[in-house]
Amino acid sequence: MDIRAAELIEKLAGEHALALDEYEYLVSHLDQEARDLLAEFARAAREPIYGHDVFVRGLIEFSNFCKNDCLYCGIRASNMGCKRYRLTREQILSCADTGYELGFRTFVLQSGEDPHFTDERLCAIVRALKEAHPDCAITLSVGERSRESYAALREAGADRYLLRHETASPEHYAKLHPANLSWENRMRCLHDLRDLGFAVGAGFMVGSPFQTSANLARDLAFIQEFQPEMCGIGPFVPHHATPFANEPAGTLEQTLGLLSIIRLIKPNILLPATTALGTIHPKGRELGMEAGANVVMPNLSPGDVRAKYLLYDGKICTGDEAAECRRCLEMRMAGCGYNVVTDRGDPRIA
Ligand code: SAM
Ligand code: FES
Repeated sequence: MDIRAAELIEKLAGEHALALDEYEYLVSHLDQEARDLLAEFARAAREPIYGHDVFVRGLIEFSNFCKNDCLYCGIRASNMGCKRYRLTREQILSCADTGYELGFRTFVLQSGEDPHFTDERLCAIVRALKEAHPDCAITLSVGERSRESYAALREAGADRYLLRHETASPEHYAKLHPANLSWENRMRCLHDLRDLGFAVGAGFMVGSPFQTSANLARDLAFIQEFQPEMCGIGPFVPHHATPFANEPAGTLEQTLGLLSIIRLIKPNILLPATTALGTIHPKGRELGMEAGANVVMPNLSPGDVRAKYLLYDGKICTGDEAAECRRCLEMRMAGCGYNVVTDRGDPRIA
């Protein structure tokens, strides 16, 4: 292993922070030995806080309509081949009821940016969910909205919000998104969400087109500075009907190395082993746990819509029923020594 990389890993494990140039050096020297050392430190940092507990979130993908045209995303507005669907309020509530029976205490409502879901409609859904399951946390992941909108959703009872920053470099952001979407607005949203009292999840794709080690270093410095409660990272995976159809996917190895680094930056962060990671490798999510992740997000969406929420090609879990998906993950986690717990899964104090 590169000597300076080893020194930087020790420093990160001790101080939970590095300078921008140090992150860049580390990211560009992540060989197998460096990743193994990082994973060892990452597990040691997680252990006293979370032990071998894994938190689950029931993911409800309630609409794949999207007004945006992100270049990487399979449900982008200009993909005419995407069969659009929208769940009704009753269907969403019924998914949550099924999830509750299965032991989920957090529901993540995710969708494209669908103008049908006005504040009034979305707030009514959040209120109904909270009323039906007051002991559960509601997480929203519905993209960029106004501060007023976020305030209304928070007021309606939403607890958490996932909005990946996608990349902390404005010039890289511009290469992944159409001109009407701006990095500044993404950041504005994240700060508004934080101000309004949401537990916030940032995150980014690993190996997205045009991404450099310098970009990843900025992502890590951003996580260090913003200190999000959650961080969703997964490999970029191409979708055949997007401008990035022929771009290579992000790698398992780089994703695992970055998961470990993020665990060390914030030892009590909620860090999912994502579906995208499970898509590029059959044991991706298990390996994610071993690299320092502590969250998994099984799909609770009704079976007939799952394949339509296709952000990238080859997405796993599109055929399973909610109960199967949950059981499968529980078995997978138990297989590598982790236990899925019935818990809201709030951050524990470090
Ligand atoms: N519309 C909401 C938003 O923008 O935050 C939530 C849904 S959006 C589809 C969820 C995440 O999927 C994005 O933040 C992005 O990082 C990820 N994603 C989209 N396309 C992807 C791809 N081709 N490979 C991997 N992840 C992708
Ligand atoms: Fe829908 Fe990007 S294409 S959020």
